[in-house]
Amino acid sequence: MRAEATGCTRCDLYRCGTQTVFGEGPLDARIMFVGEQPGDQEDRAGKPFVGPAGQLLDRALVEAGVDRSATYVTNAVKHFKFEQRGKRRIHSKPNGPEIDACRWWIEQERILVRPPITVALGATAARSLFGKAVTIGAMRGRPHTVPDGGEAWVTVHPSFLLRVQDNKEQEYARFVGDLRVIGERARALA
Ligand code: URA
Repeated sequence: MRAEATGCTRCDLYRCGTQTVFGEGPLDARIMFVGEQPGDQEDRAGKPFVGPAGQLLDRALVEAGVDRSATYVTNAVKHFKFEQRGKRRIHSKPNGPEIDACRWWIEQERILVRPPITVALGATAARSLFGKAVTIGAMRGRPHTVPDGGEAWVTVHPSFLLRVQDNKEQEYARFVGDLRVIGERARALA
């Protein structure tokens, strides 16, 4: 599937970026994390969540007692969408049709991994999983059912925590708290 995704032309984003960034992790993972789309560093490395947002996620997972290597990490959209400004590639948000086109890949990953718990990191991931726009604040902190089965949790995207100015530490602590609850839930469901 990963090999097949390298040639994906389901939407125009294949013209953007260096490569398809597919999900990675063990197929028996109990938790699947879904982000938005690869960033600049992920696009170059071909791996999800290796740049600044990924490093923040790694730190928070360690603090929450969740072993990232036992989880499956992927993105709602598998190509980096950006605007070129001089030498810099500035992240640009995927739109609804792009999220919908890429949902096919997430569905395949979900059929293969069948994670008991899926975590939407931010609004794009939540939109992809639930098939409609949702509000993170209203859904955070409690389990939901994903239309294709299993339990879903919704929390903020790590990039939000990099950007936020007000109550930065409290926001980060709340994120770690979400991950801790999710880790406990995954152990309880085992
Ligand atoms: N942000 C995401 O949503 N995914 C990544 O892989 C990196 C940054």
